[in-house]
Amino acid sequence: MGDGAVTVDYKVDRTELLARLNGALATELVCVLRYRRHHFMARGIHSCNVAASFLIHANQELGHADILAARIVQLGEASNKASVTRFIQLRGTWLGSAAVRRCLGAGR
Ligand SMILES: [Fe+2]
Repeated sequence: MGDGAVTVDYKVDRTELLARLNGALATELVCVLRYRRHHFMARGIHSCNVAASFLIHANQELGHADILAARIVQLGEASNKASVTRFIQLRGTWLGSAAVRRCLGAGR
């Protein structure tokens, strides 16, 4: 009972599952950043609709990230910052490394 969602019958390799969940969380967070960036960078005659669409997508991705983070905690782990950071760095090249470091609070 003290292990939350992890019961004696829970046979999943938790280490592998948590690695995959943290990877998926990182992907979702990169998508949030990407869509938010597009939202604010949208220009042109149709930019209002496009910007609004990007914001909707950003919020949807944030919802996905929340679900993954909640499941990670249900499995008895806090989100693994090192793992998330590594995945974001791998997937975040679209931002440029300096921007990713700023987002992660590194390099201060
Ligand atoms: Fe998503």
